[in-house]
Amino acid sequence: MAECKKGTHGECAKKCASHELTIHDDVKDYYGKRVKKTSDLKTNACVAPAKPIPAFIRKALADVHPDVTDKYYGCGLVVPDCLEGCRVLDLGSGSGRDVYMLSKLVGEKGHVTGVDMTEEQLEVARKYIEHHTQKFGFSKPNVDFIQGYIEGLEEAGLKENSFDIIISNCVVNLSPDKTRVLKEAFRVLKDGGELYFSDIYSNCRLPEEITSHKILWGECFGGALCWEDLVRLAEEVGFCSPRLVTAKTVSVGNEELERVIGDYKFVSATYRLFKIPKNAVKKSCRLTYDGNITGAEKALEFDCHYTFKVNEVVEVDGEVARILKSSRFAEEFTFQPDAQTGPCCAAGKVCPVNPFELAEQVKSGDTPSATGGCCGAKQSCG
Ligand SMILES: C[S@@+](CC[C@H](N)C(=O)[O-])C[C@H]1O[C@@H](n2cnc3c(N)ncnc32)[C@H](O)[C@@H]1O
Repeated sequence: MAECKKGTHGECAKKCASHELTIHDDVKDYYGKRVKKTSDLKTNACVAPAKPIPAFIRKALADVHPDVTDKYYGCGLVVPDCLEGCRVLDLGSGSGRDVYMLSKLVGEKGHVTGVDMTEEQLEVARKYIEHHTQKFGFSKPNVDFIQGYIEGLEEAGLKENSFDIIISNCVVNLSPDKTRVLKEAFRVLKDGGELYFSDIYSNCRLPEEITSHKILWGECFGGALCWEDLVRLAEEVGFCSPRLVTAKTVSVGNEELERVIGDYKFVSATYRLFKIPKNAVKKSCRLTYDGNITGAEKALEFDCHYTFKVNEVVEVDGEVARILKSSRFAEEFTFQPDAQTGPCCAAGKVCPVNPFELAEQVKSGDTPSATGGCCGAKQSCG
């Protein structure tokens, strides 16, 4: 099996527009005509989230119309904290489950836009706008659904620096050009914004017999990025090092398709990719979480390394410090000046966490290895 190596991942979609069109048409056909409800999926890609769903999110989900939830094809829970009043974009919003759940969580002053290329999915999503507006007690809708490609948000009319948060649930793997998707997401995000998304990743680059298999692609396995390629692509596009939130291994669960998959492994992982101003200083610091975010009154789970308990002083590395100081979280923390630099050097590169290892730890109930993740001079992150 080919391991991911820096700079060797060539996406043929860049060279071949007809390949891109074919994939778009195949995926539209899959989600528009072949699959009508969650139970029609042929594999386990649409897995339950790795961790229990908090009560306030369960409540928001319970308010979503069953015709919408029947067509849910996601692979994770895409609910970042601190959502009230935010402008959110959902890439590949499907029938709209996550859009409506977030519509309630951002509140009447916030807004959620869903983008999807498949007419049949959009039709279901749009049909229930009025229903949810009334259910949530809003005076006017705070959602809209746009038909378009996630590789072409500009053509879909989405302006640069216009969203606080982008979410996506099991969609980026379906794109023939992941680089363009990330570039477009970066463009439309405001400074300090983040792409918070769940997707399927492989342990290695996949061979052509898997990537050219139409059902495996439609089921979110064939187009899965090797997780190390996601880390590299995100940084190339300009995001901070991806922060891994959670991960869960995914089995295919279909004998015929498993024969094609062979020994390749897959994980459903949730990452957060922050767009931070270029001049943001990278310096470790001590901080305390103030406990004012709805749903995170006792502790704020930032990623698999950092959970901030209310009023507890924590020293964070330079990367996390600049993310928190430059994002919507800045007002939620008290930052202490002049922290001594601890063992976690400010300039050190943050080693990406292997989601397959995290998935094992989560499964066995282990707490993921403590804060940190700074590579010393001898350690390689590549
Ligand atoms: C696996 S489903 C997930 C839908 C939704 N996020 C959910 O959780 O139910 C994938 C969705 O992404 C859409 N999609 C896939 N590739 C796309 C692309 N390149 N541009 C726009 N939409 C896309 C499909 O039409 C489909 O609705």
